Parts: sequence; C-alpha cells; structure tokens
Amino acid sequence: MRLVLVGPPGAGKGTQAEFIAAHLAVPKISTGDIFRDNVARGTELGVQARSYMDAGQLVPDEVTINMVRDRLAEPDAGDGFLLDGFPRTVPQASALDKLVADLGAGLEVVLELVVDDDEVIRRLSGRRTCRGCGKIWHVEFDPPVREGSCDRCGGQLFQRDDDKAETVAERLRVYARDTAPLVDYYGAQGRLVGIDATGPVEDVTLRAIDALRSYG
Ligand code: AP5
Ligand code: ZN
Repeated sequence: MRLVLVGPPGAGKGTQAEFIAAHLAVPKISTGDIFRDNVARGTELGVQARSYMDAGQLVPDEVTINMVRDRLAEPDAGDGFLLDGFPRTVPQASALDKLVADLGAGLEVVLELVVDDDEVIRRLSGRRTCRGCGKIWHVEFDPPVREGSCDRCGGQLFQRDDDKAETVAERLRVYARDTAPLVDYYGAQGRLVGIDATGPVEDVTLRAIDALRSYG
C-alpha cells in the first residue's frame, strides 16, 4: 500500500507510523527522522535543514522533494510505503503525485490524524525520544519504567530542540498556513480518510487499521 499520514505536529504520526507500517509490511519513511539523522551526522543536508527546523519552519520544498525522490527510488519502497511528514505543502503534494505516477502507481490513501491544539501542546511538551532506537515516549502518557532510559533498548532519552513552547507555537502556525490545505487537496482527489487521534495509542492504531481495511 502507498499511504501518507498527515496531521499537526504532535498528532502522533511517528507513534502510529511505526505500528501501521509494521501491520502493512511497508517501510516507514519519515522526512523529520531523515533530517534529524542528517543533522546528527553533520552532513551537508543536515547543515542546510537545521536552521529551518530549529525555527519551526519548513525546509525548502526543493531540498525536501529531492530527498524524498531519492528515498522512494530505493528498492524497499517498490511495493509500497508509509510517508510520515511528507508532503506538507501543496507543491510537495503535486511533486509526490508525479513521483508515484513515474513509478507506475498512485497513492491509495491519505490518513489524517485529527487532534486539537491543546492536546498537541500537552503531547509535545512531554515527548522524549530514544537516542538508541528512536522509539517515542511521553513522560505522562507513555512513560518508560526507568525515567530517562528506553525500556526497549536501554538508550538515553532526549527532548527534541523544536519542542520548546515558542517553536511549537510557530510549527502550529506553519501547519495551519502551509499543510492544512492538503486536507482539501486530497479530499478533492477522494483519497482522504480522517480519524479521531485522541485516546490511548492502541485505540488510535485500531481506528487507523480499521479505516485502511477497505483500501486493501
Ligand atoms: P517532523 O519530525 O515531521 O515533526 P512534526 O510533523 O511536527 O511531527 P512530530 O514529529 O512533532 O509529531 P508526531 O505527529 O510524529 O507525533 P509523535 O508520534 O512524536 O518534522 C520536524 C521538522 O523537520 C519540521 O518542523 C521541518 O522543519 C522539517 N520537515 C520535516 N518534514 C518536512 C517536509 N515534508 N517539508 C519541509 N520540512 C520538513 O507524538 C507526540 C507525543 O505524543 C509523543 O510523546 C507520544 O508519546 C505522544 N502520543 C502519541 N500518541 C498519543 C496518544 N494517543 N495519547 C497520548 N499521547 C500520545
Ligand atoms: Zn530505545
């Protein structure tokens, strides 16, 4: 299946992407993760992306589209993929339409995770990520047994630089301005399915899988 997840920062895209991709047996492709990995390794792409990320702004479309084009050309994406965090502008969405058409395929479904701004702020202020395996935790909603350490791999947990209150506010403004229009874009294509992304993580996963069932 070729699937896109959309939703505001903190909606739970990364959390759900892991479960949904495993369920569908497709690779999870997260542009945020790829950028963060490049920042951590100090690559040219990472240096380019960092200032935008730290300011809560989007990395320019051209840079992001080229990166996704390269990733979709890898063999594991040939039979389907789950995109988390891309597209998030209308020009990115129309570039993706062309990229998938070039693969001789189309996107099947765009799943929108719906949560309000207050919930986003609660989620992002308590988010912690594992340095070892990338698993996403929350100090209150999904805490590890030992504070600051990942239950899965023992890795150290850290708080993302862009989860500071003022950066989160800017990310929400950017989402409303640049990314929310994708709901209409994909709605007009008849590909959009929205689900309530509040409540326990497992319940949201079940809702997502249920919503995807009719798409095969
Ligand atoms: P990116 O990493 O994509 O950030 P984002 O879209 O802002 O999304 P987040 O990762 O913050 O949240 P999420 O929805 O994945 O939520 P999560 O599962 O972690 O992008 C970062 C930056 O990279 C951008 O600002 C931009 O600069 C750049 N970038 C990336 N893609 C780009 C693109 N296409 N174009 C241009 N620039 C791009 O969950 C959040 C917290 O909530 C966690 O602590 C989790 O444990 C908790 N949680 C999850 N589900 C639940 C639940 N059901 N109940 C309670 N808590 C929950
Ligand atoms: Zn870990």
